[in-house]
Amino acid sequence: MASPSSHLHLAAIILCIYFVVPIFAELQRFQHQPKHDGSVSYLVIGDWGRKGRYNQSRVATQMGKVGEKLDIDFVVSTGDNFYTNGLKGVNDPAFLKSFSKIYTAKSLQKKWYTVLGNHDYRGNVPAQLSPLLRKIDNRWFCQRSFILNAGVAEFFFIDTTPFINDYYNFSEHFYDWRGVSPRKFYLNNLLKEFESALMKSNAIWKIVVGHHAIRSIGHHGDSPELVKYLIPILKANHVDVYMNGHDHCLQHISSIDGQLLYLTSGAGSKAWRGDIKESQFDVVKFFYDGQGFMSVQMTDIDANFAFYDVFGENIHHWNLSKYSMHSSV
Ligand SMILES: *[C@@H]1O[C@H](CO)[C@@H](O)[C@H](O)[C@H]1NC(C)=O
Ligand SMILES: *[C@@H]1O[C@H](CO)[C@@H](O)[C@H](O)[C@H]1NC(C)=O
Ligand SMILES: *[C@@H]1O[C@H](CO)[C@@H](O)[C@H](O)[C@H]1NC(C)=O
Repeated sequence: MASPSSHLHLAAIILCIYFVVPIFAELQRFQHQPKHDGSVSYLVIGDWGRKGRYNQSRVATQMGKVGEKLDIDFVVSTGDNFYTNGLKGVNDPAFLKSFSKIYTAKSLQKKWYTVLGNHDYRGNVPAQLSPLLRKIDNRWFCQRSFILNAGVAEFFFIDTTPFINDYYNFSEHFYDWRGVSPRKFYLNNLLKEFESALMKSNAIWKIVVGHHAIRSIGHHGDSPELVKYLIPILKANHVDVYMNGHDHCLQHISSIDGQLLYLTSGAGSKAWRGDIKESQFDVVKFFYDGQGFMSVQMTDIDANFAFYDVFGENIHHWNLSKYSMHSSV
């Protein structure tokens, strides 16, 4: 006959199996060496891979010049890296034609930290995530969700495509859901890991990067799924900026009830959609429906943001200061 203590043992083992097995590994963490004083400069670009067409090459040329001037440390890509249907495989020539042979300027020979967009999901997702691509071009760094520590800033890259209901409900297109199923389980774990990583962060600047906009007055507008699941986590953890692509424009939107900014840089190639919505919730500081990109410089006390068009013209810029933000609280 089993003793009470062996029953307890059994119960403990069952509890362990039940709770430990379904838990994912924590989000992977990577480091990027900042400048000597901890500051970082970077460019943000999205929705770009069209083999140079739709002004992609012109934007690339201007990124090279601004990148040189600001002595950038890396580039952030907000996804939709390869149109129209992602990459077919690791040997897809689109990788060279839309990336390596386009962003050729010396200043752009840095790491490109990249998330996946919905168009990337229409192709072979494991190919875009494959280390084999890094062998072809060692700038390439694409993961689903990950954390990047870079001096004064900590970046939380989040895979937003699996959040969006429409891709599941109205699937006239193929989506490569390998690795993100079952959906509910994947999203629950992702949100949990994402929130716990943000809670642990002591970074001066907390930046979240995803493909889909939370707030946008462009073609696609707000993403209700992200409004519901991400905004509470971002606000509770004092995230400074959410950066995205998806809408082919440049936008600076400021939340009405806190410090959070919603910045869209999704103008890497095809743009000029011409449709603009009203903002119902937040304050639109800037909207530009043409091609271009964004630059960011961050130190321990301030951050400078700027948007540029295809001519390299600085069309909108602003500064944030950590001191005035804190003293005004
Ligand atoms: C390229 O940029 C120029 C200048 O903004 C614009 O007039 C033109 O329509 C753009 N071309 C395409 C194909 O979007
Ligand atoms: C889409 O699917 C989700 C669940 O996957 C469901 O909650 C939602 O109501 C559906 N929306 C539409 C418009 O069918
Ligand atoms: C923002 O910071 C930059 C660089 O420090 C400076 O050149 C510029 O004058 C500042 N702009 C404003 C509006 O404070």
